Amino acid sequence: MTRIAIDPSDWLGHARLVREVYGRLTAEGILIAAADESGRLNPMTIGWAVFGRIWGRPMFPVLVRPSRYTYRCIEHTGDFTVNVMPPELADVVGACGKTSGRSLDKIAAHGLKVLPSRHIGSGGLAEANIVLECRVVHRNDVQPPSFAPDIIASYYPEGDFHRVYFGHVLGVSVREGFLQDDSA
Ligand SMILES: Cc1cc2nc3c(=O)[nH]c(=O)nc-3n(C[C@H](O)[C@H](O)[C@H](O)COP(=O)(O)O)c2cc1C
Repeated sequence: MTRIAIDPSDWLGHARLVREVYGRLTAEGILIAAADESGRLNPMTIGWAVFGRIWGRPMFPVLVRPSRYTYRCIEHTGDFTVNVMPPELADVVGACGKTSGRSLDKIAAHGLKVLPSRHIGSGGLAEANIVLECRVVHRNDVQPPSFAPDIIASYYPEGDFHRVYFGHVLGVSVREGFLQDDSA
């Protein structure tokens, strides 16, 4: 399937892209993907992210718990892709949030195809409507003493405090035809 490249410094100006990223993120989730030490790409579902501009760059920070195989993958690669899947693949997105790449090749299990990246080592997913290629330019662990107590109690009863990976968006591509209703 043909893909159209978008200038990363402009991508937040495309209402259609922003709406779709936020819409899918808050529905079934979106997939981040990074390769493991053997080069195998591992997709993981996320439901939380912030995106915007930091340090004069387009940025996409994501939160990953140390218990995830993805944590190990990103520590290894220093990069990741953000993949916004079509709603028809919502069940695949859900499944990638329930199984771990430690014990399952999720790409093979769900019949997904790897899309080679242009700017980073980790690939994207060919089925995605939107793929962002991100290089980690900063990482930071959330700090327990800095939290409001209700957040600690709700989200960290067992510790496993997120590491925030600040991804600099170096590449953006969309499925051909996806931007046609950008004016909406
Ligand atoms: C909708 C949804 C959103 C999720 N969001 C996150 C997230 O933002 N950060 C995180 O560390 N895990 C999140 N998870 C959990 C991981 O996707 C899940 O633990 C996954 O199996 C980890 O895969 P891995 O071990 O291959 O990395 C989410 C799961 C779902 C279903």
